[in-house]
Amino acid sequence: MQIFEQVESQVRSYIRAFPTVFEKSKGAMLYDEQGKAYIDFFAGAGTLNYGHNNEAITTAMINYLQNDGVVHALDMGTTAKKRFLETFTNTVLTPRNLTYKIQFTGPTGTNCVETALKLARRVKGRSNIISFTNGFHGLTMGSTAITGNKHYRHESYVNRSNVSFMPYDGYLGPNVNTIDYLRKALSDNSSGLDIPAAVIVETIQAEGGVNVAGFEWLRQLEQVCRDFDILLIIDDIQVGNGRSGDFFSFEAAGISPDMVTLSKSIGGGLPMAILLLKPELDEWKPGEHTGTFRGNNLAFVASAAALSTYWQDDAFSQSIKRKSAVLKEELEKTAQEFPTLKANVRGRGLIYGLEIPAQGFAKKVSQNAFKRGLVIELAGARGQVVKFLPPLTIEEETLHRGIEIVNEAIAASAGS
Ligand SMILES: Cc1ncc(COP(=O)(O)O)c(C=O)c1O
Repeated sequence: MQIFEQVESQVRSYIRAFPTVFEKSKGAMLYDEQGKAYIDFFAGAGTLNYGHNNEAITTAMINYLQNDGVVHALDMGTTAKKRFLETFTNTVLTPRNLTYKIQFTGPTGTNCVETALKLARRVKGRSNIISFTNGFHGLTMGSTAITGNKHYRHESYVNRSNVSFMPYDGYLGPNVNTIDYLRKALSDNSSGLDIPAAVIVETIQAEGGVNVAGFEWLRQLEQVCRDFDILLIIDDIQVGNGRSGDFFSFEAAGISPDMVTLSKSIGGGLPMAILLLKPELDEWKPGEHTGTFRGNNLAFVASAAALSTYWQDDAFSQSIKRKSAVLKEELEKTAQEFPTLKANVRGRGLIYGLEIPAQGFAKKVSQNAFKRGLVIELAGARGQVVKFLPPLTIEEETLHRGIEIVNEAIAASAGS
């Protein structure tokens, strides 16, 4: 570990929570240099939905490289990009009657969010954006401005203008519909709230603590956007790509966002991001929003392989929903088995949170789980939520074993 401590910046983060050197990985497993095996319930924060070194994906990439496929081409036309566009259209958009245009952005989530904000402001000619309490959208300037957590928002470097934060679903308790407040503030000339170009929202706030918005709340939010001529952007970077059980997290709510940000698993594990936009919003001039790494052709190959392996029919979606039911049931049992924790279980698909209010307890659970061979991260403003984010391809047996380790880690944390 010495080289990391000596040479790498203090800013390093996950290596502190999981202090080992990983060498190999396969499916839902990671192996460190000592050969110790770890179940991965973190999945690259939602980048490894198809597991580590997925056979279908790696085979496609190896073949592509061995055939001298183009790896980098800015946004020029390539065979890999053509195949990706065809595959995404045929497996994701057309079956869902979606007619989005696809914009390739820089390959990280925050690049995609920045693009969405810029386009919304450009189209509507307004600068304000509404974001929500506990929202997380990335850490470049514009994305940090719409991210709630103070940890990321030092006033010396965050531009705090042109953003209004509104209470997310449930923020004011189960009996308050926060959409009522939003609607009132937008209607009232004297509320101080400027009509924004867009509202940006996660249907499930992943980093923010696995807070799940109700479908009815999302529908009401969409209606407010329509009533006030505001664009609705769904940030599906972490909970899209099947995480919620459907390809898009907003499908079950029956809403029709104006823009959707996708990154993380859209690249089949490689860096890639796309912005989906309703065709009438495509007001860009050629080259107006550009960037060198918008043509990661290896990621296009990986993505097309993942989409054609898992999204041709709804079998994969059904399997995620089956595993989701197992995860939910097991976590509810855990909460009952340890009543003194006052734990709260919430989630959808294969993202679940176990909120443990006692300060520092969730962190102990993650640390004790790691010692026992499980990589599991925390979420929430105080790191009070143990976040379950296994690869969607995880075998049920491994899922059970991972949950068992969490139970052992809770028992150990309570004892210490
Ligand atoms: C919902 C959401 N949006 C945006 C981002 C930023 O993505 P990136 O870290 O790739 O910039 C994240 C990252 O966790 C995210 O969860």
